[in-house]
Amino acid sequence: MNQEDRLDRIERQLGSPAHRGESFLLYEGDCLHLMKSLNGNHFDLTVTSPPYNIGKEYETVRPVDHYVDWCEQWVRDVHRLTTHFGAFWLNVGYLNLPGRAKAIPIPYLLWDRVPFYLIQEVVWNYGAGVAARRSFSPRNEKFLWYVKDPDNYTFDLDAVRDPNVKYPNQKKNGKLKCNPIGKNPTDVWSFPKVTSGRFRSSKERTNHPAQFPVAVIDRVIKASSRPGDIVFDPFLGSGTTVEAALRNNRLAVGFEVDRAYVQTAIERIERAQRRLEHEYAQGALF
Ligand SMILES: C[S@@+](CC[C@H](N)C(=O)[O-])C[C@H]1O[C@@H](n2cnc3c(N)ncnc32)[C@H](O)[C@@H]1O
Repeated sequence: MNQEDRLDRIERQLGSPAHRGESFLLYEGDCLHLMKSLNGNHFDLTVTSPPYNIGKEYETVRPVDHYVDWCEQWVRDVHRLTTHFGAFWLNVGYLNLPGRAKAIPIPYLLWDRVPFYLIQEVVWNYGAGVAARRSFSPRNEKFLWYVKDPDNYTFDLDAVRDPNVKYPNQKKNGKLKCNPIGKNPTDVWSFPKVTSGRFRSSKERTNHPAQFPVAVIDRVIKASSRPGDIVFDPFLGSGTTVEAALRNNRLAVGFEVDRAYVQTAIERIERAQRRLEHEYAQGALF
């Protein structure tokens, strides 16, 4: 099946999207309902960050056990819709557990609720954030990297090697010690958060309060998928995952429940596409 047929197959099952481009589909709606209407192994890679149950403007706080049950439901659907060699990257932070924890890492609550195989927990470290008084100031979230089959999964390390090597010419027995493309970027990733504010607002910032930096998702997509694969985000927000997928010649599917954010995502992805087409035309000229 060619790439476009794969998106057509999804569109036939879900009906008309809120927006469609040559290589992406955006749907407005509850991801649980939308995923229930899909069958078949559609997605090669899912990258997402759900609401954390911490009272952000796009969520209603519920009892923690209900929140965990809800997470299990949608993660099971992601698993059902993932291709055999596929992967699932889940970005989560911390939540308050009354009487037990000021801020419990959400991975502790989900560890036995996820049907995928856990390859690794990656720490995303960032510079800016709230300043704590009675504890250390929090500066990390986690990415949980899961796969469907631990013996067969995509991992393109060369695509994400870090060229920042201190002693690139160091040799052992006459051979270069370090890979000339760069070093393994390790399981601690430092990328600035998308910040707001009059003086420190990130260039890529939209009106969404919890936007992924494109650079982080870019690394996930390069490492965990191949060109032409379908990348999925059931909690698309401002559209970061789709933008990063398009930049890397992947197909993309996004679901988002909030109409205003769907609109933000559409405008953002259209802008990104125009930029990519312009870059492509410039490249073709020289
Ligand atoms: C943490 S934000 C994701 C932000 C996104 N990663 C970005 O880069 O902009 C979670 C998003 O999930 C959306 N959402 C919440 N419940 C949903 C549901 N049941 N189905 C689809 N989207 C939902 C919220 O409106 C919010 O935009």
